[in-house]
Amino acid sequence: MRIFSGIRASGDKTLGNYSGGYRQYAATQEQGDAVFCIVDLHSITTAYEPEGLHEATLAGAAMLFATGIDPERSIVFCQSHVQAHAEAAWLLSSVTSFGELRRMTQFKDKSADQEFVSAGLFTYPVLMAGDILLYQTDIVPVGDDQRQHVELTRDIAERFNGRYGDTFTVPKGVYPDEGARIKNLQEPERLMSTSAGNPQGVIRIVDEPDVIRKKFKTAVTDSEREVRHDPDAKPGISNLIEIMSVVAGESPAAIEARYDNSGYGQFKEDVGEAVVTLFAPIQERYRELRADEEGLRRLLGTGAEKARAASAPTLEIMVERMGFVRP
Ligand code: TYM
Repeated sequence: MRIFSGIRASGDKTLGNYSGGYRQYAATQEQGDAVFCIVDLHSITTAYEPEGLHEATLAGAAMLFATGIDPERSIVFCQSHVQAHAEAAWLLSSVTSFGELRRMTQFKDKSADQEFVSAGLFTYPVLMAGDILLYQTDIVPVGDDQRQHVELTRDIAERFNGRYGDTFTVPKGVYPDEGARIKNLQEPERLMSTSAGNPQGVIRIVDEPDVIRKKFKTAVTDSEREVRHDPDAKPGISNLIEIMSVVAGESPAAIEARYDNSGYGQFKEDVGEAVVTLFAPIQERYRELRADEEGLRRLLGTGAEKARAASAPTLEIMVERMGFVRP
């Protein structure tokens, strides 16, 4: 089985990324041939600084290894190192409609408050479809916010296969049972993300332990005192229950039972402490890996070679089927 997932280049990854991304990557790499991509070409679709991208890419690689991706077992590479990705995006844009892209909610959200909306932000889901389809991917482990993009990828694959003959495996998205949509601790109606929302409610994987504790202590809850999972009536507490479930590996029901009648204070403190404990060894490995820039570049170089070899046959079939003259 082929597994593929991508993650934007950034050193500011969150507990949400851990829940929908990293922890699923580490688990799925045990199930088949896994490919993980630091999608630096995606990172330029919104305003950015070139020096910042450089740092973010290396940080992104360090975080993948720190959270348990084994470079011997899985392919880890940087999107811009494998030119097939940019090429596949162009080819696939001819089987993607304007209307489909216009319906993407992430585009609507991300373009809403920007003065300059790049064409790249609009066509980004086509690049993502290429990322996935080039590797004949069976499953795509992601968080719920990527569901619409994965569904579009399936539609693009089916349309290409229908028009040019069977070329792509049609991939399936894989979403965690708990924690597919971790919310901002201060604004529990909003996804936890570094790009929008109250930063006090965003847990970064590299946050200092005391910062994490404080953010949990001040998390927004409600005026009751019952630790109960009910996302509509109790979004703040339900989010904390999901976080505890992700971090402790327990079901929401077991957590509810454990905190029956104990009030919110102790619960919030315990969730914070559990996250601190989970992130401590990751932070330590991350610092070590990030300090060895040469080592990271070497690992990314090997990953790029393997990714080029794995993606080239698909790109070759695409161009042939589409009728291009080959040199
Ligand atoms: P990115 O970099 O925004 O996020 C990486 C992963 O983290 C998940 N995630 C969350 N999961 C739960 N709760 C949250 N609050 C939360 N925030 C983020 C995301 O769902 C994602 O799985 N477009 C993608 C990157 C991408 C990609 C791909 C993914 C490019 N090509 C091909 C899969 C396959 C993105 O921006 O993810």
